[in-house]
Amino acid sequence: MASESRQLTGDGPASVVFESVSKRYPDGTLGVDSIDLECEAGKITVFVGPSGCGKTTSLRMINRMISPTSGRILIGRRDAADLDEGALRRGIGYVIQNAGLFPHRTIADNIATVPVLLGAKRRAARVLAIELMERVGLDPALGRKYPYQLSGGQQQRVGVARALAADPPVLLMDEPFSAVDPVVRLDLQNELLRLQRDIGKTIVFVTHDMDEAVRLADRIVVFQRGGTIAQTDTPEKLLTEPVNAFVRDFTGDSGIKWLSLMGTSGIEPRADRVVHESDSFSGLDQWRLLVDAEERALGWLRPGAVAGDELVPCRRTFVLGGDVMRCALDSALLSPVGQAVATDSSQRVLGLVDFPSLEPAINHHRSQAHA
Ligand SMILES: Nc1ncnc2c1ncn2[C@@H]1O[C@H](COP(=O)(O)OP(=O)(O)OP(=O)(O)O)[C@@H](O)[C@H]1O
Ligand SMILES: [Mg+2]
Repeated sequence: MASESRQLTGDGPASVVFESVSKRYPDGTLGVDSIDLECEAGKITVFVGPSGCGKTTSLRMINRMISPTSGRILIGRRDAADLDEGALRRGIGYVIQNAGLFPHRTIADNIATVPVLLGAKRRAARVLAIELMERVGLDPALGRKYPYQLSGGQQQRVGVARALAADPPVLLMDEPFSAVDPVVRLDLQNELLRLQRDIGKTIVFVTHDMDEAVRLADRIVVFQRGGTIAQTDTPEKLLTEPVNAFVRDFTGDSGIKWLSLMGTSGIEPRADRVVHESDSFSGLDQWRLLVDAEERALGWLRPGAVAGDELVPCRRTFVLGGDVMRCALDSALLSPVGQAVATDSSQRVLGLVDFPSLEPAINHHRSQAHA
């Protein structure tokens, strides 16, 4: 099956290029109006824009579920119109909202659908399904269950695993995470970014949510009414230099969204307000963070606290250098003292960061962005 997708495109991820592509539906509606666009190989391109502006139509023209009325689409430099339609559809992974799983097939069978269609043996298909479940962060024991027995977030992961089963050079995702709650959604986004670091596919991702676009995209394409493209740029560029009022309004408050882009590696946490479980202390003069022998956060000690007193939960920490600035601010806001708790990637506390020391980091990033 991998060989079939390779036939499409040659080895490795393939770029997707739109050349003056239009789609007029039979009823006369112009869904997409002469767009030019390159979705770079191995990168995540995100389509955003108001409802009805041609995002899904554009996406579905890539695997020829919809055929363009004019113009052409090149996949790995080959004209999609010249490729075998069935092979193209099977060879390009496609993930949609609510996962679109077959309800009366088990999870493992859902994932192995395309490989089996292409002649994979049962055993090989089962091994592949297990491997893919692990890859998308699902317990392989779920393979025997049916979609209705899984949560929305788990179903979405199955959708992603199924789309990856044919090792496609291109992955199309149409609002894949929009039906799950914000917390699960964040999980799925992180999982996709982690997965993408391993697989480096060409991903074309549609969303209504600018925050999601900013988090995931290497490049964002803003569609506007009438099926045209208003701007294509990196998230940074789009937020700081919108080409017109429409893009500015659509992208919203860039100051806030910036926080989702800024790294936290420049921050210097202070360790002087951290108390170890083994330390003897009594009548603390101010709030302190209590950590265990492994340096993991146990909770906050109130001023005046003595050993054994009840702790105030530490609700959020952030990974220094790993999480974005927004996580650091969340951590500070959710702490009782306005102090963010910085950890390393193993959740070991490195120290605390107060609001005033977040400010220079934010200003530094902003000035770099505008340079
Ligand atoms: N089968 C169809 N027949 C006629 N018109 C269609 C058809 N499918 C889509 N359209 C129209 O084409 C335009 C683009 O639709 P499309 O589904 O691509 O938008 P979208 O950007 O994905 O919107 P949404 O954000 O709501 O999913 C819309 O005006 C829509 O009504
Ligand atoms: Mg759509």
